This record gives sequence, structure tokens and C-alpha cells, in this order.
Amino acid sequence: MPGLTIGDTIPNLEVDTTHGRVKLHDFVGDSWAVIFSHPGDFTPVCTTELGRMALQVGEFEKRRVKLLGVSCEDVKSHLLWIKDIEHYTPGCKVTYPIVADPDRDVIRELNMVDPDKVDEEGFEIPNRALHVISPDKKIQLSIVYPATTGRNMDEVLRVVDLLQAAAAARRKAKAPPPPPLFARAAASKL
Ligand code: BEZ
Repeated sequence: MPGLTIGDTIPNLEVDTTHGRVKLHDFVGDSWAVIFSHPGDFTPVCTTELGRMALQVGEFEKRRVKLLGVSCEDVKSHLLWIKDIEHYTPGCKVTYPIVADPDRDVIRELNMVDPDKVDEEGFEIPNRALHVISPDKKIQLSIVYPATTGRNMDEVLRVVDLLQAAAAARRKAKAPPPPPLFARAAASKL
């Protein structure tokens, strides 16, 4: 996949979302983040995926992961779409922001463009890309699905668990070793 990929730092784009304007690095902050794109508002697979993601918000929060959807329509359309998503997935609440990207700048910069498809006006459309971002703003994992095929959000939780476990193991390997046992025993007698 040419363009932004694993190991790269995401660009610090300033984007319009259903929660207002944010810079991507500020949005990630000290957390992990999952940024996931959608071919279009009010389409069946996208609506189902966003509802499934909304049902899992608590699981992502437990893991200190922020969610950010991306779709090319404007904020007004996204806000109407959220009502639809909540209707079609009973019990879900879309509490995460969705980026509006009518000029396609965000999907180009984040490498989320479907190479084969354009809309009726000739504009690029997003594929179903998903990046998992670590607190240092680097991409730890990317998946790309075609528009026809929805992602499994349980699988996203599974990979987040593995990536966070691997990051914890790397931190542990870099930490200074504990003092030798005899030194600890001597210190405890002081
Ligand atoms: C859908 O979300 O259902 C969809 C969107 C674009 C192309 C195909 C399916």
C-alpha cells in the first residue's frame, strides 16, 4: 500500500468533525486512537459498522483508545446520519467524532482513498481503511477493506490488545533491571 503506513507518524491535520475542529495530534493526546474511514454516509454497510463501533465504545475506553470516524460528507450530513446509525443499531450511542472531508484532503493524507472508485461527480471516495495509532502518533497497524466488505470490530479490539501488550513488553525490556537479590536483601536489613 503506497503512502502512509505502519511506523509513520500521522500528519497533524486540522479537521472538521461532529465534535468541532480538532488537530489530529491533539485528538490522540496521550491515548491510543483508531481512525477508520467509510465510503459514504447513509449506506448500509457503513451504517452497520459505525453502529457496531458505537456498541464497543466502552471496551475501547477501557483500553484508553479514542475512536475517530472519517466520511467525506459534511458535518450536517454526519449529524443526521448519526440518528440513522442509532436507529438501525438499537442501544448504541455514537459518542465518538466523525470527520467531515468534502475536499478529500483527509483521506488523501491518511492513505484512505479507494484506488478504483470515484463518485458521480468524479471525486475520490474512501475505502474502508483503519489505522491504530499509539500515543507517539505513529501508525501501529493498518487494515484496508473494499467498500463492499465491513470490518469486524471485535477483531479491532483483538489487535489493539496485542499491540498494547507488545508496547508494554518493549517498555519493560527498556526499563533498568531490578537490583540483584543480595543487594535487595542487604537493603531490607538496613
Ligand atoms: C455500504 O456501506 O453499504 C456501501 C458503500 C459503498 C459501496 C458499497 C457498499
